[in-house]
Amino acid sequence: MDEQAAKIRIAQLREILRENSRRYYVDNAPTMSDYEFDLLMHELERLEADFPQFDSADSPTHRVGSDLDAPVGANAEPLSRQGFVQRPHRYPMLSLGNTYSIEEIEEFAARSDKTLDGIPFSYSCELKFDGTAICLTYRGGKLIQALTRGDGIQGDDVTENVRRIASIPQQLHGDFPEEFEIRGEILMPYAAFDALNREREAQEEAPFANPRNAASGSLKLIDPEEVAHRGLICTLYHIPAESVSFASHAEALDAAESWGLPVSGERRLCRDIAGIKAYIDHWDKERKFLPYATDGIVIKINELACQRALGYTAKSPRWAVAYKFKAEQACTELLGIDYQVGRTGAVTPVANLAPVQLSGTLVKRATLNNADQMALLDIRTGDWVYVEKGGEIIPKITGIDPSHRAAGAQRPVFPDRCPDCGTPLVKAETEAKWFCPNQDGCPMQIKGRLLHFVSRKAMDILAGEATVEQFYDAGLVRTAADLYDISKYQLLSLEGWQDRAADRFLESLEASKQVPFERVLFALGIRYVGETTARGIARHFGGVDAIAEATQEQLSEIDDVGEVIARSVYEYFRNPAHLEQIERLRKAGLRLDGAGAETALSDVLAGKTVVISGNFSISRERMKELITAHGGKAGSSVSGSTAFLLAGTKPGPEKLKKCEKLGIPVVSEEEFLAMLPESQPAGSGLPSGGVSAAERGRLFSPPEGKPADAGVVGNGEAVEELTLF
Ligand code: IVH
Repeated sequence: MDEQAAKIRIAQLREILRENSRRYYVDNAPTMSDYEFDLLMHELERLEADFPQFDSADSPTHRVGSDLDAPVGANAEPLSRQGFVQRPHRYPMLSLGNTYSIEEIEEFAARSDKTLDGIPFSYSCELKFDGTAICLTYRGGKLIQALTRGDGIQGDDVTENVRRIASIPQQLHGDFPEEFEIRGEILMPYAAFDALNREREAQEEAPFANPRNAASGSLKLIDPEEVAHRGLICTLYHIPAESVSFASHAEALDAAESWGLPVSGERRLCRDIAGIKAYIDHWDKERKFLPYATDGIVIKINELACQRALGYTAKSPRWAVAYKFKAEQACTELLGIDYQVGRTGAVTPVANLAPVQLSGTLVKRATLNNADQMALLDIRTGDWVYVEKGGEIIPKITGIDPSHRAAGAQRPVFPDRCPDCGTPLVKAETEAKWFCPNQDGCPMQIKGRLLHFVSRKAMDILAGEATVEQFYDAGLVRTAADLYDISKYQLLSLEGWQDRAADRFLESLEASKQVPFERVLFALGIRYVGETTARGIARHFGGVDAIAEATQEQLSEIDDVGEVIARSVYEYFRNPAHLEQIERLRKAGLRLDGAGAETALSDVLAGKTVVISGNFSISRERMKELITAHGGKAGSSVSGSTAFLLAGTKPGPEKLKKCEKLGIPVVSEEEFLAMLPESQPAGSGLPSGGVSAAERGRLFSPPEGKPADAGVVGNGEAVEELTLF
């Protein structure tokens, strides 16, 4: 690779890794498997080693992924977005170097041998728990603080939540040191995870993708009482050597166990690489029977003096390494390939498979990523292929089984024209994907962009795939701005639309005019601008006009906006059609500048935790925003600290029962809106006020005679493709 190509690839990799790190640690919604992430990280490490002139201290290869949310306001005590106080770690909380190859574990052992130069040592082999890291501090035997890893330097103070986790003792017994830190993992066992997702689905809330996300999301709940009901457990695996005076890691953990702390029981001391391999082989099979998720094995040098001698890099200890298991695979027949066009025009080959069971679900389709990947696999129709699940729910094809190949099996031909509109496809040298360049005329792209615009995390308009399709087919809508021109009369002329459904759609359209600017920016669907990037750009520039005028250099001044994103944003605003769209959206009344969703409207709900259940005249997401904007907290399960249950139509029967049992009041939407002050500052970004409570409080029941998806709030969230395989 020449210098210029390396420079571009390094910049791309850094952006991809930063964005995915945020999705993993902050949003709890990764879109890439750990394996892919690790491969890209290793590619970046190699490139930085080969081209040291482009290495930089703030590269993700030298930084620990951060779970800290963007802090807001200039508080004396910095707060994360969810309102947790951020506190410094006494000792940095680092991550672990990882590998998928036994050879690299052998290299780790050989390196340690060499540095320790004859000093005898052993290895502590442990499970690598797949949850969220926690750092506990005990003083005088009492739990005094619990911090998340955060960015490794400071973490969110989640002490009150951690106090609600049953396996973490508040008080130690025995011969504990006066003050010490101990670190470990908070996990959600599979059984608790399944129960939580069942409950969320019943409440029309998005299920968590995996137990890790569920654990870290639960740890950052606002209401500690809710944490108590999430079934979290804890396992502890590390006492920083600086904080105690033991000779070995094993001794330290044994002692911790004797003080009553939950220490991982599957540890084994191994003398040599043969012992390590036996431990790995054992757990690679047995881990399937554990009640919680693990993603590998951690191998640590056991003697603390040796650990000190080996020391640390900026990111991880030299005395430990993680061997990661590859994701579970299944093998099945490839029936055929569809070519899907995304909202950005990227063409993705999607395999249709003979249905096969994989990690608990029946898989029928899997992505093949791009043409290069298909060529690399040398895939043929009728092949038997290996499927794996990535970070997202969509599985992917990772290999083929050549022994099953029929003689004369044909290579599928990647189309040279858009499968939807027939335009010749194009591919930039630095991209892995082929694109349909017909942005303004390709129906799949147009519908994809509309679907993204209306999605819950964007404008939260009551329309899903079938509705968008119907609007498109009827010729009503081509761009987001067209949505705001739709009349009730036009809606009623469409098949399956009745009065109530039309009103609900138009109400959600009206409510979307109050969506904060940062979400409008996200809704525009600018390439590479995900939710978090949009928030960063919106807060930095304050309004769409300033963004449109910004140079690429000014755009790249924002944290984590690199060359690729800056260019994408810059180019977006150089397109006259986009500017015209924005003008129409401005005229329609959308918020194209101003503060985020945190704008306070009143403090009438200060100190109150409100649990919501059922359906409302606005989406549940926006109802929660309304609660926070009036000073309250939105909780999701009823407990002693719940102020009241805000019940829409069809509230959860379990929640109602619990309220009755605990004597907690149940409040209707109408009553709730009546509690809020009638007026609010103009452009404050949220509904309520001004309009009469009775009108706003109009309840509705599920739609009748509507198109299949029209009752769905928060349709398939379109996620930008960032994988550059
Ligand atoms: S030791 C200085 N032991 O894996 C490093 N970490 O990818 C101390 N993890 O941040 C960590 N199981 O959250 C250690 N048995 C184990 C672990 C473990 C899971 C996590 C931990 C760490 C991450 C690194």
